[in-house]
Amino acid sequence: MMDATTSKPVCDYDGSHYQTEFWEKGGRAYEDLVERISLRHLLPKNGALCLEIGAGAGRLTRELDHFERVVLLDYSRTQLQQAQERLGRGPRFIYVVANVYHLPFVPGLFHTALMVRVIHHLVDPRAALEGVRATLRPSGALVLEFANKRNVKAILRYWLGRQSWNPFSPESIEFSKLNFNFCPRSMRSWLHEAGFTIRKQRSISHFRIPLLKRIVPLHWLATADGVLQSSGELWQLSPSLMLRADAHPVGPIAPTQSFFRCQHCYSTELSESKHTITCPNCGPVCSISDGIYDFKEPFSSQRSK
Ligand SMILES: C[S@@+](CC[C@H](N)C(=O)[O-])C[C@H]1O[C@@H](n2cnc3c(N)ncnc32)[C@H](O)[C@@H]1O
Ligand SMILES: [Zn+2]
Repeated sequence: MMDATTSKPVCDYDGSHYQTEFWEKGGRAYEDLVERISLRHLLPKNGALCLEIGAGAGRLTRELDHFERVVLLDYSRTQLQQAQERLGRGPRFIYVVANVYHLPFVPGLFHTALMVRVIHHLVDPRAALEGVRATLRPSGALVLEFANKRNVKAILRYWLGRQSWNPFSPESIEFSKLNFNFCPRSMRSWLHEAGFTIRKQRSISHFRIPLLKRIVPLHWLATADGVLQSSGELWQLSPSLMLRADAHPVGPIAPTQSFFRCQHCYSTELSESKHTITCPNCGPVCSISDGIYDFKEPFSSQRSK
């Protein structure tokens, strides 16, 4: 679907049963475990506030238990409802429906941001990274997973003439609608341009091969992958890559007690009532219901009037 405020297409997960269909019934215990192993190496060991972007049904959110509070952000309200069922409402979790291109937070708010299996849905990864950078404190960390077009399988297929696109070239490959594989070098340069310094890189999911997953016990396969992951510092040939990048320190951030800001005029003087957040310039910008802050809803209901 096309997001009306950014005019960028968004991969719509509303109503999807991605968590059960893809993860629980999809035979992906190996992929799940190796992502967790990588996260344990890349995430900072503590922090006050973490932003999980494209959190979906909260599959990985418990990996963030060492943060005091976690904001789960997703474009899809139904994904966040599923996350809420899994994690509960408590004060540690804040659920926010919003677009990654249009983040509704005051600058410099978060110690850490996490983005796993999300950037591969974005047509403009660099714009999204710039927005994420702005929400991070100076030297705040982004832990990012992305799909790698230059993986062994794609290289072999290319050399054998079974695939027309070149896995070594810098452009992204849209292998199905709004699903992209990226060139690792291009991703590194977008991060750099967006104001990040890459600190660590891990290659993950080396053994994403159905036969191996069937015959080798899960923990052996995941342990072997965990050993190989640090080779991502030297070369990146696995289908998925994860890295930690730190936000460049920039000038001082204006002190504010605010948490949210208006996505349209950037005012931080928003007033919150039981069901609404209102901007002094733009009117209602967020509805609040069932423990979910929804920054999309006021605009979709205004459009449908
Ligand atoms: C493949 S799922 C990954 C969910 C979770 N991170 C995980 O690894 O299990 C992608 C998620 O990104 C969200 N998403 C896609 N485009 C988005 C956007 N522009 N802004 C915010 N969330 C987005 C989708 O709604 C979906 O929940
Ligand atoms: Zn405003």
